[in-house]
Amino acid sequence: MEKELSKAVLANISIPEDTAHIFAETAHRFEEMMMMYQCAIQEVTTKLEVLSREMSVRNNRNPIETIKFRIKKPKSIAEKLIRNGFEVSVDSASQNLNDVAGVRVICSFIEDIYTIAKMLTSQDDIHLVNVKDYIKNPKENGYRSYHMIIEIPVFFSDRKQYMRVEVQIRTMAMDFWASLEHKVRYKKDIPNSEEMALRLKKCADVIAATDAEMLKIAQEINII
Ligand code: GTP
Ligand code: MG
Repeated sequence: MEKELSKAVLANISIPEDTAHIFAETAHRFEEMMMMYQCAIQEVTTKLEVLSREMSVRNNRNPIETIKFRIKKPKSIAEKLIRNGFEVSVDSASQNLNDVAGVRVICSFIEDIYTIAKMLTSQDDIHLVNVKDYIKNPKENGYRSYHMIIEIPVFFSDRKQYMRVEVQIRTMAMDFWASLEHKVRYKKDIPNSEEMALRLKKCADVIAATDAEMLKIAQEINII
């Protein structure tokens, strides 16, 4: 029934009156799922904030510049499920999507990325599901970032639930590039989009060289 309802919603068909209660129930389950992912984000950001606070006191430099987070919008959840050939339902979203909850950590230096990834994943309650190192293996367009899918336990009133969170760790320079590239990608009707892609790729290479040189300088003057 839930499947039929989601099909009807996606196809923009009007929902018969007798399905109103199913709509309410599905909406409630969806709200609950989003609450659980919000809590998972809270747990991950708390861990990162603890590390950040500790490092600010213990070291004279904190590798964590900024922590951002976002929860995937319902429309993007549905679109991604359809794109990947999965059923559009609450259960399907939590089973098949790894990025409903997303946390992004911005650092100064490339080395900080690996330091933070290790600190986080060596905590014994965190399960590492997978890693995509787009710094060692940049994407063809020049995208660089370190991605991890982790599972973190969240303690609710009646149970402990492991929740998946996508953690992206990148330098400020990588973040600057990714945010412009993202805007370019979603802007429609860009004239000479191929040339634009080439220019962005060039920027990515310059940024990577700059990140590497900045790290070298920081190491030479022993601030890292
Ligand atoms: P998505 O379906 O996009 O989530 O990709 P995926 O499930 O194969 O995972 P992947 O680790 O490749 O990418 C996850 C996320 O990283 C994306 O949702 C973006 O936030 C970011 N990302 C990946 N590739 C790019 C890129 O080329 N440019 C930008 N700006 N961001 C990217
Ligand atoms: Mg994603």
